Amino acid sequence: MTQMTKFGLAGKVALITGGGRGIGRAIALAYAEAGATVAVTARTRSEIETVVGEITAKGGKAIAETCDVLVGDQVNELVHTVEQRLGGIDVLVNNAGGGSVISPFLDLREEEWDLHLGRNLKTVFLCSQAVGRGVAARGKGGVIVNISSVMGMGPHPLRAPYAAGKAGVIALTQTLSVELAQYGIRVNAISPGFIEVERFLKQFADYSQTVRPARLSKVPLARMGLPQDVGDLALFLASDASSYITGQVIRLDGGLVTTVFYKDNSLNSWW
Ligand SMILES: NC(=O)c1ccc[n+]([C@@H]2O[C@H](COP(=O)([O-])OP(=O)(O)OC[C@H]3O[C@@H](n4cnc5c(N)ncnc54)[C@H](OP(=O)(O)O)[C@@H]3O)[C@@H](O)[C@H]2O)c1
Repeated sequence: MTQMTKFGLAGKVALITGGGRGIGRAIALAYAEAGATVAVTARTRSEIETVVGEITAKGGKAIAETCDVLVGDQVNELVHTVEQRLGGIDVLVNNAGGGSVISPFLDLREEEWDLHLGRNLKTVFLCSQAVGRGVAARGKGGVIVNISSVMGMGPHPLRAPYAAGKAGVIALTQTLSVELAQYGIRVNAISPGFIEVERFLKQFADYSQTVRPARLSKVPLARMGLPQDVGDLALFLASDASSYITGQVIRLDGGLVTTVFYKDNSLNSWW
């Protein structure tokens, strides 16, 4: 196997959750460019179809399938459909997720807790089980790449449910790496720091003026992360170049570490 082959994904089928925008889109583009046939899923059809259009315009192979990956029946249907259309799934990227609630813990509402644990952790359970069963049955091995967060690796006041969900992803990654090794399934996680995605401009009215410079000041490499940075690492973790790596959680944060931005011990959210 040449170096190019080893770092590529030719002949592989990959399912990317949350592939319609941001980090998931970048992973889908990276995988397709590396030769994989990519199934892109999210709830918003127009976004996943746009990503598939970008891939096919460059000569890649991709399909779009809508799914709410928080609903078990929809996930099972998704996996069935993808396998019917493309063949067995070799690589699963559990990327769908996110956190919107910033709240003092004592004010946190039960539905906010359930939403974040569901969106960030239950989705990983449902998709990993549905895809893992097929991989185990086919007996050829496979790969799961989970997208956690630096927020799952340390204390994050005001973001308790997101932090707990992402920490859960890390625990699940490590547990599945042992339990699924017997089927040749490798399971790793990426913990991104500040990855600049389009939604920040909508989410924060003052993003460019205040939020961005404040975040940037905490990053030793002095730049925001790009979605492609996550795509590059996710490609390595899916490829045979990482065939002896499993159960790892790789921080992708330009040097941002919890202790650095937490040194003032303030109770303000740093996000
Ligand atoms: N950006 C960062 O700085 C950063 C840092 C650390 C970790 N992360 C993690 O990286 C992942 C991607 O983040 P992002 O910043 O790229 O977010 P984003 O731009 O909001 O994209 C999230 C994607 O997930 C999909 N999604 C959300 N809930 C879903 C559901 N129930 N079923 C199916 N699809 C769903 C969304 O599409 P629909 O809404 O159409 O379903 C969208 O395609 C998340 O897990 C996030 O927590 C991001």
